[in-house]
Amino acid sequence: MIWIKPLIIFFIVLLLAPPLWAADDFVNQPVMPQSASLPYEDQALSVEKRVQDLVGRMSLTEKIGQMTMADIRSVSPEQVSQLQLGAVLSGGGAVPTVNTSDAWRTMVESYESSRVTSRWHIPLLYGIDAVHGHGNVYGATIFPHNIGLGATRNPELVERIGAATAQELAATGIFWDFAPALEVPQDYRWGRTYEGFSENTELVGQLGAAYIKGLQAEGVLATAKHYVSAGAAVWGTSGHEQYAIDQGGSEISETELKKVYLPPFKAALQAGAKTVMVSLNSWRLTKIHIDQHLLTDILKTELGFTGFVVSDWDGLKSLGPDYHANIVRSVNAGLDMVMLSKEPEVFIHELTLAVDSKEVAESRVDDAVSRILRVKFEKGYFDSDEYVLPDVGAIGSLAHRELARQAVSQSAVLLKNEDNLLPLPKTTPLILVAGAGADDIGMQSGGWTMTWQGGLGEITPGTTILEAVRATVSPSTVVDFSADGYFKAHASVAIVVVGEKPYAEGVGDRADLHLDQHDLDIILRVKEKADKVVVILLGGRPMIIADQVGNWDSLVMAWLPGTEGQGLADVLFGDEPFTGKLPFTWPSSMSDLPMTRATKLKASWAYGYGLTTTLLVANSPVCKPLD
Ligand code: BGC
Ligand code: BGC
Repeated sequence: MIWIKPLIIFFIVLLLAPPLWAADDFVNQPVMPQSASLPYEDQALSVEKRVQDLVGRMSLTEKIGQMTMADIRSVSPEQVSQLQLGAVLSGGGAVPTVNTSDAWRTMVESYESSRVTSRWHIPLLYGIDAVHGHGNVYGATIFPHNIGLGATRNPELVERIGAATAQELAATGIFWDFAPALEVPQDYRWGRTYEGFSENTELVGQLGAAYIKGLQAEGVLATAKHYVSAGAAVWGTSGHEQYAIDQGGSEISETELKKVYLPPFKAALQAGAKTVMVSLNSWRLTKIHIDQHLLTDILKTELGFTGFVVSDWDGLKSLGPDYHANIVRSVNAGLDMVMLSKEPEVFIHELTLAVDSKEVAESRVDDAVSRILRVKFEKGYFDSDEYVLPDVGAIGSLAHRELARQAVSQSAVLLKNEDNLLPLPKTTPLILVAGAGADDIGMQSGGWTMTWQGGLGEITPGTTILEAVRATVSPSTVVDFSADGYFKAHASVAIVVVGEKPYAEGVGDRADLHLDQHDLDIILRVKEKADKVVVILLGGRPMIIADQVGNWDSLVMAWLPGTEGQGLADVLFGDEPFTGKLPFTWPSSMSDLPMTRATKLKASWAYGYGLTTTLLVANSPVCKPLD
């Protein structure tokens, strides 16, 4: 019976072999590593073991790829796969051709599919600046910029905003947010003043930590930025030819750096931040991107940061003409991932040469890659084949807009209120509304909305202040609007909304923070047509108004409230009380800047100032007037 044995073997092989009809499915499977049970794939092992195992398997090219992030405007999904990049970003305004939620999802997924072709199946990070909501996405909820959140003094609210923002990010498949900024600005001429929650270190740390908790609870990675001390920069020191203070430097002592600027980063790490973005500024004449003391000794060793350090936008190019030397210095200083506007292949080439020539030790590269992979493992990105994306309905949802509306009410600071003019009765017969900011979603949203610099007009859906006023007053009230303040009839009250036009970063560096003459003229013109004038200021920082405010009856600082203008009407008409408190001391003249202990004493309004109002029950449509 010698033939029986081969027959049995034949049947066993037949049983075990994949059926032919399954061949197509097999081909469509992601390219998996040789075995499905390599140690780094084993969820039962510790993250450290998994990281070690994977790094040990990777080639130098694969490792350097992980350290590289490029803007999607300069790399196709195919190039991302081919270069084996660790991350990509949508810089401000890097949006799909048609800016819809679905198009975002498709675009992001096309990049994230690079994981399939990666030899080790390494997930890609996709980063974006959702700095006041998912601001690049048409129709997303735009929350107040950080300076306004600072005025709320409400960490619980800020945490909810972080969570809502994360839900909108996740709906587009994005799980890495370049936020929150933890600046502690001292010189309001700086175009990034509004990125800071406050001049007060403790408040910045508290709100920054709350924001991070909110984001990360919804599975989105936060970024503590920009490390560290940019708020101390001196006017005129900008390293950038078109700016005056942005990307500049300071020579403050290490004691001051550790007292004023570092604590928010400590708070961020405690709250679980796993990525830190380096500031484009210098400290003591050294660019922070190459400052080993700050990046390695203080951040990684003293503070025990185990996540990864990412550069800011082309931060290595800004260090001088010798790109190769810049790469060597910054990676050796402790930089783990580089953010590039373009040409990732050049960075990869140069860093490879530097490792080959031993200018950068391979152990430094291993450390950088371990940090990046650690974050990817810790967040569970390795362990799910596909992200289960929430419904795109999260984007601009009613619940998020309601939250933003509350934030707008709580962020408005009432600086003056003669004869308790506010809140206004909803039954006022005629209300005049004027000013460039009264009916402009773009202006009330500021920079980082749809594009890097933001823009004027109907750039995204929302409620303008004028629309909100109209929606709030009684049916018999006439609301007359003229942007330039030309009115025929005389009214008991007028609301004028003026202030800064959108800007971001150094583009907003301004030597003069007075209101434009055009705006002042409008207010004067309106005053002739109204018994009382309420001025609402929009802007990213305190402005110099000491000479004019005496002529205004009420003054509200609304900061950059975002899309939900209804939150302002809520406080103007007493559906919500004014409770906002100044997050920054308000100077009385340009010569008070930068703020110091001495100039703070001469301020128009002190840090923490803000009048409160009570609810106007009779105004509420749901409550009957009191007898
Ligand atoms: C800003 C960062 C931002 C990055 C990417 C830089 O110019 O300083 O805050 O995250 O661009 O858009
Ligand atoms: C990008 C921004 C970036 C800026 C820096 C812009 O082109 O879109 O994300 O912050 O450049 O200069």
